[in-house]
Amino acid sequence: MASTPRGVLVTGGGQRLGAAVCEAFARAGWTVWCQYRASREAAEALCARLRGEGFAAQAVEADIGNEAAREALIAQIAADVPLAAIVNNASAFEPDTGLDFEPDAALRQLGVNLIAPLSFARLLARQPVDGTDRSAIHILDQKVFNLNPDYFSYTVSKLALERAVSLQAQSLAPAVRVCGVAPGLLFTSGPQNDANFAKAAQANLLRRPIDPADVARTCVFLAETPSVTGTTLCVDNGQHLVPLARDIMFVVDDLLKASAP
Ligand SMILES: NC(=O)c1ccc[n+]([C@@H]2O[C@H](COP(=O)([O-])OP(=O)(O)OC[C@H]3O[C@@H](n4cnc5c(N)ncnc54)[C@H](OP(=O)(O)O)[C@@H]3O)[C@@H](O)[C@H]2O)c1
Repeated sequence: MASTPRGVLVTGGGQRLGAAVCEAFARAGWTVWCQYRASREAAEALCARLRGEGFAAQAVEADIGNEAAREALIAQIAADVPLAAIVNNASAFEPDTGLDFEPDAALRQLGVNLIAPLSFARLLARQPVDGTDRSAIHILDQKVFNLNPDYFSYTVSKLALERAVSLQAQSLAPAVRVCGVAPGLLFTSGPQNDANFAKAAQANLLRRPIDPADVARTCVFLAETPSVTGTTLCVDNGQHLVPLARDIMFVVDDLLKASAP
């Protein structure tokens, strides 16, 4: 356990990757604040289990799409523990294309996927200077290095966030380090079924599924490494080096057929 308590906020922390991130930070000795919107039961159960194992974890409901709610959340956490890291994990993933996107849906995704992370990072930068090394970690997607036009608004939001990693690192220095983590395919999403996912999860350079714990461990590494800022790590088994014309879920059968020995 760390000698000085350090707090981390994980947005959308109740399930899937967010839960793995909460678990990794808790096991590394951090005090975890696991934000949820709809996943109350999962977030409460995760934090109760971690507390039962002797770790510090607290579930908290908050509307991360609202600036006043974001400010209140940061104040609530900072009153409990020195807030040293925020992992911007929550994300909206809605199918659309460059031709058919609905402006309201695009704005919704930009709000959750781009504005909320940027806002949380700057709120962290406004914390009183007390010698705490602080970092904001934006969860991206290997898609930003491997473009295809599916999930158009989602991809635009993650592209902007990826570009903002270095820009915000410059802007918020020296108060806050800003880093990105770009995972590859981790879980079923949208219309994807288990059979499609099982195949798609092998469609990367290493021909095996990506362990979400590796993504979570990378977040802990970045939060605990004070010399790193303004850069992004891909944790994707090299998926970003396998160019595809469409989202992997739509082309996996063709891809595996074409690459069969
Ligand atoms: N899944 C993958 O294979 C994959 C691949 C590459 C990158 N990523 C990235 O990794 C991160 C985690 O992925 P994931 O699949 O675990 O995420 P997810 O399950 O799709 O979403 C994580 C959480 O985000 C919150 N959320 C979703 N829409 C929201 C909205 N409109 N307003 C507020 N909160 C909202 C939800 O929290 P509540 O449930 O509490 O409402 C949800 O549980 C994301 O940033 C994603 O872009 C994922």
